[in-house]
Amino acid sequence: LVLVFDFGSQFGQLIARRVREQNVFCQLVRHDITAERVKELNPKGIIFSGGPSSVYEAKAPKCDPKIFDLNIPVLGICYGMQLACHTLGGKVAPAAAREYGRATLNVTNADQLFRGYPPESTVWMSHGDQVHTMSGDFVPLASTDTCPVAAVKHTSRPVYGIQFHPEVSHTPHGGQILANFLRDVCGCRGLWKIQTFIEETVQTIRAQVGDKRVICGLSGGVDSAVCAALLVKAIGPQVACIYVDNGMMREGETDLVRHTFRDWYKADLSVVHASEHFLAALQGVTDPQEKRKIIGRVFVEIFKNEAKAIPDAHFLAQGTLYPDVIESGGSKDGPAATIKLHHNVGGLPAELGFELVEPLRDLFKDEVRRLGIELGLPEDVVWRHPFPGPGLAVRCLGEVTAEKLATLRKADTIFLDELHKAGWYRKTSQAFAVLLPVQSVGVMGDGRTYENTVAIRCVQTDDFMTADWSHLPHDLLARVSTAIINRVKGVNRVVYDISSKPPATIEWE
Ligand code: XMP
Repeated sequence: LVLVFDFGSQFGQLIARRVREQNVFCQLVRHDITAERVKELNPKGIIFSGGPSSVYEAKAPKCDPKIFDLNIPVLGICYGMQLACHTLGGKVAPAAAREYGRATLNVTNADQLFRGYPPESTVWMSHGDQVHTMSGDFVPLASTDTCPVAAVKHTSRPVYGIQFHPEVSHTPHGGQILANFLRDVCGCRGLWKIQTFIEETVQTIRAQVGDKRVICGLSGGVDSAVCAALLVKAIGPQVACIYVDNGMMREGETDLVRHTFRDWYKADLSVVHASEHFLAALQGVTDPQEKRKIIGRVFVEIFKNEAKAIPDAHFLAQGTLYPDVIESGGSKDGPAATIKLHHNVGGLPAELGFELVEPLRDLFKDEVRRLGIELGLPEDVVWRHPFPGPGLAVRCLGEVTAEKLATLRKADTIFLDELHKAGWYRKTSQAFAVLLPVQSVGVMGDGRTYENTVAIRCVQTDDFMTADWSHLPHDLLARVSTAIINRVKGVNRVVYDISSKPPATIEWE
Protein backbone atom coordinates (compact mmCIF):
# COMPACT_ATOMS: atom_id res chain seq x y z
CA LEU A 1 0.00 0.00 0.00
CA VAL A 2 1.10 3.52 -0.85
CA LEU A 3 -0.73 6.60 0.42
CA VAL A 4 -1.17 9.74 -1.67
CA PHE A 5 -1.77 12.76 0.57
CA ASP A 6 -4.17 15.19 -1.06
CA PHE A 7 -3.11 18.82 -0.62
CA GLY A 8 -5.80 20.09 -2.97
CA SER A 9 -4.10 19.22 -6.25
CA GLN A 10 -6.16 18.81 -9.37
CA PHE A 11 -3.88 15.84 -10.09
CA GLY A 12 -4.40 13.82 -6.89
CA GLN A 13 -6.38 11.09 -8.57
CA LEU A 14 -4.00 11.05 -11.50
CA ILE A 15 -1.08 10.38 -9.16
CA ALA A 16 -3.03 7.54 -7.57
CA ARG A 17 -3.78 6.12 -11.00
CA ARG A 18 -0.12 6.32 -12.07
CA VAL A 19 0.87 4.41 -8.94
CA ARG A 20 -1.69 1.72 -9.69
CA GLU A 21 -0.36 1.50 -13.23
CA GLN A 22 2.83 0.22 -11.61
CA ASN A 23 0.68 -2.52 -10.05
CA VAL A 24 1.08 -0.99 -6.62
CA PHE A 25 -2.07 -0.55 -4.55
CA CYS A 26 -2.62 2.99 -3.48
CA GLN A 27 -5.14 5.20 -1.74
CA LEU A 28 -5.72 8.93 -1.77
CA VAL A 29 -6.08 10.26 1.79
CA ARG A 30 -6.63 13.66 3.36
CA HIS A 31 -3.50 15.67 4.02
CA ASP A 32 -4.28 15.93 7.75
CA ILE A 33 -4.38 12.18 8.42
CA THR A 34 -2.55 11.57 11.70
CA ALA A 35 0.82 9.88 11.95
CA GLU A 36 -0.81 7.31 14.21
CA ARG A 37 -3.36 6.35 11.56
CA VAL A 38 -0.63 6.18 8.94
CA LYS A 39 1.31 3.86 11.20
CA GLU A 40 -1.75 1.59 11.49
CA LEU A 41 -2.20 1.53 7.71
CA ASN A 42 1.49 0.69 7.43
CA PRO A 43 2.11 1.95 3.89
CA LYS A 44 5.37 1.23 2.13
CA GLY A 45 5.53 4.80 0.86
CA ILE A 46 3.84 8.18 0.90
CA ILE A 47 3.42 10.67 -1.93
CA PHE A 48 2.51 14.28 -1.19
CA SER A 49 0.45 15.78 -4.02
CA GLY A 50 0.84 19.32 -5.26
CA GLY A 51 -1.65 21.98 -4.31
CA PRO A 52 -2.58 25.60 -4.98
CA SER A 53 -1.36 27.00 -1.64
CA SER A 54 1.88 28.56 -0.48
CA VAL A 55 3.39 27.03 2.66
CA TYR A 56 3.38 30.47 4.25
CA GLU A 57 -0.36 31.02 3.97
CA ALA A 58 -2.05 30.77 7.35
CA LYS A 59 -4.56 28.27 6.03
CA ALA A 60 -2.10 26.26 3.93
CA PRO A 61 -2.79 22.54 4.28
CA LYS A 62 -0.10 20.90 6.40
CA CYS A 63 0.64 17.32 7.35
CA ASP A 64 1.24 15.88 10.78
CA PRO A 65 5.02 16.54 11.12
CA LYS A 66 5.40 13.25 13.04
CA ILE A 67 4.87 11.51 9.68
CA PHE A 68 8.53 12.21 8.91
CA ASP A 69 9.58 10.28 12.02
CA LEU A 70 7.91 7.06 10.87
CA ASN A 71 10.81 6.25 8.55
CA ILE A 72 8.37 5.71 5.68
CA PRO A 73 9.70 7.01 2.33
CA VAL A 74 8.08 10.28 1.23
CA LEU A 75 8.03 11.77 -2.25
CA GLY A 76 6.81 15.38 -2.33
CA ILE A 77 5.53 16.72 -5.62
CA CYS A 78 5.47 20.52 -6.18
CA TYR A 79 3.67 21.93 -3.11
CA GLY A 80 4.39 18.56 -1.48
CA MET A 81 8.12 19.10 -1.97
CA GLN A 82 7.91 22.66 -0.65
CA LEU A 83 6.04 21.44 2.41
CA ALA A 84 8.52 18.64 3.11
CA CYS A 85 11.48 21.01 2.75
CA HIS A 86 9.79 23.73 4.80
CA THR A 87 8.95 21.28 7.59
CA LEU A 88 12.45 19.81 7.63
CA GLY A 89 14.30 23.14 7.61
CA GLY A 90 14.63 24.33 4.01
CA LYS A 91 13.68 27.78 2.74
CA VAL A 92 10.75 28.19 0.36
CA ALA A 93 10.10 31.53 -1.34
CA PRO A 94 8.28 32.93 -4.36
CA ALA A 95 10.07 32.18 -7.64
CA ALA A 96 11.21 35.19 -9.70
CA ALA A 97 8.27 34.48 -12.01
CA ARG A 98 5.39 32.05 -11.76
CA GLU A 99 6.42 29.10 -13.84
CA TYR A 100 3.80 27.29 -15.84
CA GLY A 101 4.40 24.91 -18.72
CA ARG A 102 7.21 22.85 -20.12
CA ALA A 103 10.77 23.22 -18.87
CA THR A 104 14.03 21.41 -19.54
CA LEU A 105 15.28 19.38 -16.60
CA ASN A 106 18.97 18.68 -16.08
CA VAL A 107 19.67 15.80 -13.78
CA THR A 108 22.75 16.51 -11.70
CA ASN A 109 22.63 13.46 -9.46
CA ALA A 110 21.39 10.24 -11.01
CA ASP A 111 20.59 8.88 -7.59
CA GLN A 112 17.89 6.22 -7.03
CA LEU A 113 15.05 8.52 -8.04
CA PHE A 114 16.62 9.39 -11.40
CA ARG A 115 18.19 6.03 -12.18
CA GLY A 116 17.84 5.39 -15.91
CA TYR A 117 16.53 8.91 -16.46
CA PRO A 118 17.77 10.98 -19.44
CA PRO A 119 20.29 13.65 -18.31
CA GLU A 120 18.20 16.27 -20.12
CA SER A 121 14.46 15.99 -20.60
CA THR A 122 11.17 17.85 -20.69
CA VAL A 123 9.10 18.23 -17.53
CA TRP A 124 5.86 20.04 -16.68
CA MET A 125 5.99 22.83 -14.13
CA SER A 126 3.18 24.71 -12.46
CA HIS A 127 4.21 26.70 -9.40
CA GLY A 128 4.57 30.13 -7.84
CA ASP A 129 6.86 29.24 -4.92
CA GLN A 130 9.96 27.13 -5.09
CA VAL A 131 12.58 25.77 -2.74
CA HIS A 132 15.42 28.28 -2.56
CA THR A 133 18.00 27.06 -0.15
CA MET A 134 18.03 23.76 1.57
CA SER A 135 19.09 23.04 5.09
CA GLY A 136 22.34 21.10 5.21
CA ASP A 137 20.28 17.91 5.22
CA PHE A 138 19.00 18.18 1.65
CA VAL A 139 21.00 17.73 -1.53
CA PRO A 140 19.83 18.85 -4.97
CA LEU A 141 19.32 16.24 -7.67
CA ALA A 142 18.21 18.28 -10.68
CA SER A 143 17.58 21.80 -11.94
CA THR A 144 15.96 23.82 -14.70
CA ASP A 145 16.94 27.25 -16.00
CA THR A 146 14.58 29.08 -13.71
CA CYS A 147 14.40 26.57 -10.88
CA PRO A 148 17.84 25.74 -9.50
CA VAL A 149 16.42 23.24 -7.01
CA ALA A 150 14.01 21.17 -9.08
CA ALA A 151 14.55 17.90 -7.19
CA VAL A 152 16.00 17.08 -3.77
CA LYS A 153 16.85 14.26 -1.46
CA HIS A 154 17.29 14.30 2.32
CA THR A 155 20.64 12.95 3.42
CA SER A 156 19.50 10.97 6.43
CA ARG A 157 15.76 10.43 5.92
CA PRO A 158 14.04 8.69 2.98
CA VAL A 159 12.50 11.99 1.86
CA TYR A 160 12.52 13.16 -1.77
CA GLY A 161 11.01 16.12 -3.52
CA ILE A 162 10.42 17.14 -7.12
CA GLN A 163 9.16 20.53 -8.20
CA PHE A 164 7.66 19.34 -11.50
CA HIS A 165 4.71 17.02 -12.09
CA PRO A 166 5.75 13.44 -12.98
CA GLU A 167 2.11 12.32 -13.15
CA VAL A 168 1.04 14.36 -16.19
CA SER A 169 1.65 13.23 -19.75
CA HIS A 170 3.59 16.45 -20.48
CA THR A 171 6.40 14.94 -18.38
CA PRO A 172 7.20 12.10 -20.77
CA HIS A 173 9.52 10.17 -18.45
CA GLY A 174 7.53 10.87 -15.27
CA GLY A 175 6.54 7.22 -14.94
CA GLN A 176 10.20 6.30 -14.52
CA ILE A 177 10.53 8.52 -11.44
CA LEU A 178 7.43 7.04 -9.85
CA ALA A 179 8.61 3.52 -10.71
CA ASN A 180 12.05 4.22 -9.19
CA PHE A 181 10.49 5.67 -6.05
CA LEU A 182 8.05 2.78 -5.65
CA ARG A 183 10.45 -0.07 -6.44
CA ASP A 184 13.88 1.14 -5.31
CA VAL A 185 13.02 3.48 -2.46
CA CYS A 186 9.82 1.95 -1.06
CA GLY A 187 10.55 -1.66 -1.99
CA CYS A 188 7.15 -2.26 -3.60
CA ARG A 189 7.16 -5.34 -5.78
CA GLY A 190 4.36 -4.38 -8.14
CA LEU A 191 2.25 -7.46 -7.51
CA TRP A 192 -1.11 -5.77 -7.17
CA LYS A 193 -3.44 -7.04 -9.88
CA ILE A 194 -7.15 -7.17 -10.48
CA GLN A 195 -7.07 -10.91 -9.79
CA THR A 196 -5.50 -10.26 -6.38
CA PHE A 197 -8.20 -7.71 -5.73
CA ILE A 198 -10.92 -10.25 -6.56
CA GLU A 199 -9.47 -12.90 -4.26
CA GLU A 200 -8.99 -10.46 -1.37
CA THR A 201 -12.40 -8.86 -1.81
CA VAL A 202 -14.23 -12.18 -1.98
CA GLN A 203 -12.67 -13.06 1.40
CA THR A 204 -13.54 -9.65 2.85
CA ILE A 205 -17.15 -9.87 1.70
CA ARG A 206 -17.54 -13.37 3.13
CA ALA A 207 -16.05 -12.26 6.43
CA GLN A 208 -18.27 -9.16 6.58
CA VAL A 209 -21.64 -10.75 5.77
CA GLY A 210 -21.29 -14.24 7.24
CA ASP A 211 -24.47 -16.18 6.43
CA LYS A 212 -26.75 -13.13 6.21
CA ARG A 213 -28.49 -11.98 3.04
CA VAL A 214 -27.38 -8.96 1.02
CA ILE A 215 -29.61 -6.78 -1.12
CA CYS A 216 -27.99 -5.34 -4.21
CA GLY A 217 -29.65 -2.65 -6.29
CA LEU A 218 -28.96 -2.89 -10.02
CA SER A 219 -29.31 0.26 -12.10
CA GLY A 220 -28.27 -0.99 -15.52
CA GLY A 221 -24.94 0.81 -15.12
CA VAL A 222 -21.51 -0.74 -14.97
CA ASP A 223 -20.76 0.00 -11.29
CA SER A 224 -23.78 -1.75 -9.85
CA ALA A 225 -23.37 -4.62 -12.34
CA VAL A 226 -19.77 -5.23 -11.34
CA CYS A 227 -20.68 -4.92 -7.66
CA ALA A 228 -23.42 -7.53 -8.10
CA ALA A 229 -21.18 -9.87 -10.10
CA LEU A 230 -18.53 -9.71 -7.39
CA LEU A 231 -21.09 -10.44 -4.69
CA VAL A 232 -22.53 -13.36 -6.63
CA LYS A 233 -19.00 -14.74 -6.92
CA ALA A 234 -18.40 -14.29 -3.20
CA ILE A 235 -21.68 -15.44 -1.68
CA GLY A 236 -23.88 -16.74 -4.52
CA PRO A 237 -27.50 -17.23 -3.47
CA GLN A 238 -27.18 -14.99 -0.42
CA VAL A 239 -27.42 -11.98 -2.76
CA ALA A 240 -30.86 -10.67 -3.72
CA CYS A 241 -30.68 -8.25 -6.66
CA ILE A 242 -33.38 -5.66 -7.21
CA TYR A 243 -33.78 -3.76 -10.46
CA VAL A 244 -36.44 -1.07 -10.71
CA ASP A 245 -37.56 -0.25 -14.24
CA ASN A 246 -38.73 3.33 -13.78
CA GLY A 247 -39.74 3.68 -17.42
CA MET A 248 -36.92 6.19 -17.99
CA MET A 249 -34.42 3.56 -19.15
CA ARG A 250 -32.62 3.30 -22.45
CA GLU A 251 -33.80 0.83 -25.08
CA GLY A 252 -33.06 -2.78 -24.14
CA GLU A 253 -31.68 -1.92 -20.70
CA THR A 254 -34.11 -4.00 -18.68
CA ASP A 255 -33.64 -7.02 -20.95
CA LEU A 256 -29.88 -6.75 -20.72
CA VAL A 257 -29.98 -6.72 -16.92
CA ARG A 258 -32.41 -9.62 -16.82
CA HIS A 259 -30.44 -11.66 -19.30
CA THR A 260 -27.08 -11.00 -17.66
CA PHE A 261 -28.07 -11.63 -14.08
CA ARG A 262 -30.97 -14.03 -14.18
CA ASP A 263 -30.09 -16.18 -17.18
CA TRP A 264 -26.37 -16.07 -17.06
CA TYR A 265 -25.27 -15.52 -13.47
CA LYS A 266 -28.34 -17.38 -12.17
CA ALA A 267 -28.68 -14.64 -9.60
CA ASP A 268 -31.81 -14.09 -7.55
CA LEU A 269 -33.12 -11.01 -9.39
CA SER A 270 -36.44 -9.18 -8.96
CA VAL A 271 -37.36 -6.86 -11.80
CA VAL A 272 -39.92 -4.30 -10.69
CA HIS A 273 -41.92 -2.70 -13.51
CA ALA A 274 -42.83 0.66 -12.08
CA SER A 275 -43.04 2.87 -15.13
CA GLU A 276 -46.65 3.91 -14.51
CA HIS A 277 -45.95 4.76 -10.93
CA PHE A 278 -43.12 7.12 -11.92
CA LEU A 279 -45.03 8.70 -14.80
CA ALA A 280 -48.01 9.41 -12.58
CA ALA A 281 -45.77 11.12 -10.02
CA LEU A 282 -44.12 13.20 -12.74
CA GLN A 283 -47.34 14.40 -14.32
CA GLY A 284 -47.33 18.16 -14.87
CA VAL A 285 -43.81 18.58 -13.46
CA THR A 286 -41.37 20.59 -15.59
CA ASP A 287 -38.67 21.73 -13.17
CA PRO A 288 -35.54 19.52 -13.54
CA GLN A 289 -34.63 19.42 -9.86
CA GLU A 290 -38.22 18.66 -8.97
CA LYS A 291 -38.16 15.76 -11.45
CA ARG A 292 -34.99 14.43 -9.83
CA LYS A 293 -36.47 14.66 -6.35
CA ILE A 294 -39.67 12.89 -7.36
CA ILE A 295 -37.83 10.09 -9.13
CA GLY A 296 -35.53 9.70 -6.12
CA ARG A 297 -38.45 9.59 -3.70
CA VAL A 298 -40.51 7.10 -5.71
CA PHE A 299 -37.44 4.94 -6.21
CA VAL A 300 -36.84 4.76 -2.47
CA GLU A 301 -40.49 3.89 -1.78
CA ILE A 302 -40.45 1.07 -4.30
CA PHE A 303 -37.06 -0.20 -3.28
CA LYS A 304 -38.10 -0.22 0.36
CA ASN A 305 -41.16 -2.31 -0.43
CA GLU A 306 -39.15 -4.79 -2.43
CA ALA A 307 -36.54 -5.00 0.27
CA LYS A 308 -39.22 -5.80 2.85
CA ALA A 309 -40.06 -8.90 0.86
CA ILE A 310 -36.61 -10.24 1.65
CA PRO A 311 -37.06 -10.85 5.36
CA ASP A 312 -33.59 -11.86 6.44
CA ALA A 313 -31.75 -9.13 4.54
CA HIS A 314 -29.20 -7.41 6.69
CA PHE A 315 -26.84 -5.72 4.23
CA LEU A 316 -27.18 -3.39 1.27
CA ALA A 317 -24.50 -3.54 -1.41
CA GLN A 318 -23.63 -0.39 -3.34
CA GLY A 319 -21.30 0.19 -6.26
CA THR A 320 -19.74 3.29 -4.75
CA LEU A 321 -16.45 4.05 -6.48
CA TYR A 322 -13.36 5.81 -5.27
CA PRO A 323 -14.05 9.09 -7.08
CA ASP A 324 -17.55 9.14 -5.52
CA VAL A 325 -15.94 9.05 -2.11
CA ILE A 326 -13.27 11.62 -2.91
CA GLU A 327 -15.55 14.04 -4.76
CA SER A 328 -17.74 14.41 -1.74
CA GLY A 329 -14.78 15.95 0.06
CA GLY A 330 -13.88 13.07 2.31
CA SER A 331 -11.48 10.33 1.49
CA LYS A 332 -11.86 7.06 3.33
CA ASP A 333 -9.89 8.36 6.25
CA GLY A 334 -11.58 11.72 6.32
CA PRO A 335 -14.23 12.71 8.83
CA ALA A 336 -17.16 12.74 6.45
CA ALA A 337 -17.04 10.15 3.70
CA THR A 338 -20.43 10.75 2.19
CA ILE A 339 -21.58 9.63 -1.22
CA LYS A 340 -22.13 12.30 -3.84
CA LEU A 341 -25.75 13.09 -4.42
CA HIS A 342 -25.64 12.15 -8.07
CA HIS A 343 -24.76 8.58 -7.27
CA ASN A 344 -26.93 6.33 -9.38
CA VAL A 345 -28.45 3.65 -7.17
CA GLY A 346 -27.26 5.59 -4.15
CA GLY A 347 -29.22 8.11 -2.26
CA LEU A 348 -30.88 5.24 -0.45
CA PRO A 349 -31.38 6.76 2.96
CA ALA A 350 -29.87 5.42 6.12
CA GLU A 351 -33.43 4.89 7.43
CA LEU A 352 -33.54 1.70 5.38
CA GLY A 353 -31.50 0.41 8.26
CA PHE A 354 -29.05 -1.76 6.35
CA GLU A 355 -25.38 -2.11 6.91
CA LEU A 356 -23.46 -1.20 3.76
CA VAL A 357 -21.24 -3.43 1.65
CA GLU A 358 -19.17 -1.35 -0.76
CA PRO A 359 -16.64 -3.63 -2.42
CA LEU A 360 -15.61 -1.13 -5.13
CA ARG A 361 -14.88 1.76 -2.79
CA ASP A 362 -11.19 1.75 -3.56
CA LEU A 363 -11.39 1.46 -7.34
CA PHE A 364 -11.31 3.86 -10.26
CA LYS A 365 -13.72 3.52 -13.15
CA ASP A 366 -11.22 1.94 -15.53
CA GLU A 367 -10.31 -0.59 -12.85
CA VAL A 368 -13.99 -1.40 -12.36
CA ARG A 369 -14.24 -2.08 -16.08
CA ARG A 370 -11.22 -4.39 -15.97
CA LEU A 371 -12.75 -6.10 -12.99
CA GLY A 372 -16.04 -6.52 -14.86
CA ILE A 373 -14.26 -8.19 -17.80
CA GLU A 374 -12.35 -10.43 -15.38
CA LEU A 375 -15.64 -11.44 -13.74
CA GLY A 376 -17.06 -12.38 -17.13
CA LEU A 377 -19.58 -9.57 -17.61
CA PRO A 378 -20.52 -8.94 -21.25
CA GLU A 379 -18.70 -6.09 -23.01
CA ASP A 380 -22.03 -4.36 -23.59
CA VAL A 381 -22.44 -3.98 -19.85
CA VAL A 382 -18.82 -3.18 -19.04
CA TRP A 383 -18.39 -0.46 -21.65
CA ARG A 384 -21.76 1.20 -21.22
CA HIS A 385 -21.67 4.96 -21.02
CA PRO A 386 -22.80 6.35 -17.67
CA PHE A 387 -26.49 7.02 -17.40
CA PRO A 388 -28.03 9.38 -14.85
CA GLY A 389 -30.29 7.98 -12.14
CA PRO A 390 -33.32 9.99 -13.37
CA GLY A 391 -32.57 8.61 -16.83
CA LEU A 392 -34.44 9.82 -19.87
CA ALA A 393 -36.59 12.07 -17.67
CA VAL A 394 -33.84 14.72 -17.65
CA ARG A 395 -33.34 14.31 -21.41
CA CYS A 396 -37.00 14.85 -22.17
CA LEU A 397 -37.10 18.56 -21.50
CA GLY A 398 -40.20 19.87 -19.81
CA GLU A 399 -43.02 17.56 -18.79
CA VAL A 400 -42.33 13.84 -19.20
CA THR A 401 -44.93 11.71 -20.94
CA ALA A 402 -44.89 8.12 -22.15
CA GLU A 403 -45.20 9.34 -25.73
CA LYS A 404 -42.25 11.73 -25.50
CA LEU A 405 -40.17 9.03 -23.85
CA ALA A 406 -40.92 6.64 -26.70
CA THR A 407 -39.84 9.25 -29.28
CA LEU A 408 -36.67 10.06 -27.36
CA ARG A 409 -35.80 6.39 -26.83
CA LYS A 410 -36.03 5.70 -30.56
CA ALA A 411 -33.81 8.64 -31.48
CA ASP A 412 -31.32 7.73 -28.76
CA THR A 413 -31.11 4.13 -29.97
CA ILE A 414 -30.48 5.21 -33.56
CA PHE A 415 -27.72 7.57 -32.46
CA LEU A 416 -25.99 4.97 -30.27
CA ASP A 417 -26.28 2.28 -32.96
CA GLU A 418 -24.63 4.54 -35.51
CA LEU A 419 -21.86 5.38 -33.03
CA HIS A 420 -21.26 1.68 -32.42
CA LYS A 421 -21.22 0.88 -36.13
CA ALA A 422 -18.72 3.67 -36.82
CA GLY A 423 -16.44 2.52 -33.98
CA TRP A 424 -16.98 5.75 -32.08
CA TYR A 425 -18.88 4.52 -29.02
CA ARG A 426 -15.79 3.42 -27.10
CA LYS A 427 -13.91 6.55 -28.15
CA THR A 428 -16.41 8.83 -26.45
CA SER A 429 -17.33 9.16 -22.80
CA GLN A 430 -21.04 9.79 -23.01
CA ALA A 431 -23.47 10.13 -25.91
CA PHE A 432 -27.21 10.52 -26.00
CA ALA A 433 -30.20 12.22 -27.58
CA VAL A 434 -32.31 14.94 -25.98
CA LEU A 435 -35.90 15.73 -26.94
CA LEU A 436 -36.37 19.49 -27.00
CA PRO A 437 -39.67 21.20 -26.23
CA VAL A 438 -39.37 23.02 -29.53
CA GLN A 439 -41.36 22.56 -32.70
CA SER A 440 -40.15 23.93 -35.97
CA VAL A 441 -41.24 24.08 -39.56
CA GLY A 442 -40.09 21.59 -42.15
CA VAL A 443 -41.13 20.13 -45.49
CA MET A 444 -41.75 16.50 -46.17
CA GLY A 445 -42.90 15.52 -49.65
CA ASP A 446 -45.16 18.33 -50.73
CA GLY A 447 -46.35 19.16 -47.26
CA ARG A 448 -45.29 21.53 -44.58
CA THR A 449 -44.54 19.96 -41.17
CA TYR A 450 -44.41 21.47 -37.73
CA GLU A 451 -42.64 18.91 -35.56
CA ASN A 452 -40.16 18.18 -32.79
CA THR A 453 -36.43 18.78 -32.55
CA VAL A 454 -33.89 16.26 -31.24
CA ALA A 455 -30.49 17.41 -30.02
CA ILE A 456 -27.64 14.95 -29.98
CA ARG A 457 -24.88 15.26 -27.44
CA CYS A 458 -21.54 13.48 -27.38
CA VAL A 459 -18.64 14.34 -25.08
CA GLN A 460 -15.10 13.35 -24.19
CA THR A 461 -14.06 13.60 -20.57
CA ASP A 462 -11.86 11.96 -17.96
CA ASP A 463 -13.77 12.92 -14.89
CA PHE A 464 -17.16 14.36 -15.99
CA MET A 465 -16.32 17.58 -14.14
CA THR A 466 -15.14 19.16 -17.37
CA ALA A 467 -15.89 17.88 -20.86
CA ASP A 468 -15.36 18.70 -24.51
CA TRP A 469 -17.89 18.02 -27.22
CA SER A 470 -16.74 15.20 -29.48
CA HIS A 471 -15.60 16.12 -32.95
CA LEU A 472 -17.64 13.42 -34.65
CA PRO A 473 -17.09 13.05 -38.39
CA HIS A 474 -19.58 15.00 -40.49
CA ASP A 475 -20.65 11.95 -42.48
CA LEU A 476 -21.49 10.14 -39.25
CA LEU A 477 -23.55 13.11 -38.06
CA ALA A 478 -25.28 13.19 -41.43
CA ARG A 479 -26.22 9.49 -41.16
CA VAL A 480 -27.58 9.99 -37.66
CA SER A 481 -29.64 12.99 -38.68
CA THR A 482 -31.12 11.28 -41.73
CA ALA A 483 -31.90 8.09 -39.83
CA ILE A 484 -33.61 9.92 -36.97
CA ILE A 485 -35.69 12.16 -39.21
CA ASN A 486 -36.70 9.28 -41.47
CA ARG A 487 -37.43 6.76 -38.77
CA VAL A 488 -38.70 8.63 -35.74
CA LYS A 489 -42.21 9.84 -36.19
CA GLY A 490 -42.79 13.42 -35.08
CA VAL A 491 -39.17 14.60 -35.51
CA ASN A 492 -38.21 16.85 -38.43
CA ARG A 493 -34.99 18.43 -37.18
CA VAL A 494 -31.76 17.21 -35.53
CA VAL A 495 -29.14 19.53 -34.05
CA TYR A 496 -25.67 18.70 -32.69
CA ASP A 497 -24.68 20.20 -29.36
CA ILE A 498 -21.24 21.86 -29.64
CA SER A 499 -20.96 23.23 -26.10
CA SER A 500 -18.22 22.26 -23.71
CA LYS A 501 -18.50 21.90 -19.94
CA PRO A 502 -18.10 24.42 -18.41
CA PRO A 503 -20.00 26.60 -19.08
CA ALA A 504 -22.60 24.08 -20.31
CA THR A 505 -23.28 20.88 -18.40
CA ILE A 506 -23.27 17.45 -20.01
CA GLU A 507 -26.98 16.87 -19.45
CA TRP A 508 -29.48 19.46 -20.66
CA GLU A 509 -31.40 19.54 -17.40
P1 XMP B 1 -23.64 17.28 -15.71
O1 XMP B 1 -24.90 17.39 -16.48
O2 XMP B 1 -23.75 17.74 -14.29
O3 XMP B 1 -23.33 15.72 -15.63
O4 XMP B 1 -22.47 17.88 -16.44
C1 XMP B 1 -22.15 15.13 -15.15
C2 XMP B 1 -22.36 13.64 -15.09
O5 XMP B 1 -23.34 13.33 -14.09
C3 XMP B 1 -24.44 12.66 -14.66
N1 XMP B 1 -25.65 13.16 -14.01
C4 XMP B 1 -26.36 12.47 -13.12
N2 XMP B 1 -26.20 11.24 -12.61
N3 XMP B 1 -28.15 11.52 -11.31
C5 XMP B 1 -27.12 10.76 -11.72
O6 XMP B 1 -27.02 9.63 -11.27
C6 XMP B 1 -28.39 12.77 -11.76
O7 XMP B 1 -29.34 13.43 -11.37
C7 XMP B 1 -27.44 13.27 -12.72
N4 XMP B 1 -27.33 14.44 -13.40
C8 XMP B 1 -26.23 14.36 -14.18
C9 XMP B 1 -24.39 12.98 -16.15
O8 XMP B 1 -25.05 11.99 -16.92
C10 XMP B 1 -22.90 13.06 -16.39
O9 XMP B 1 -22.35 11.77 -16.56
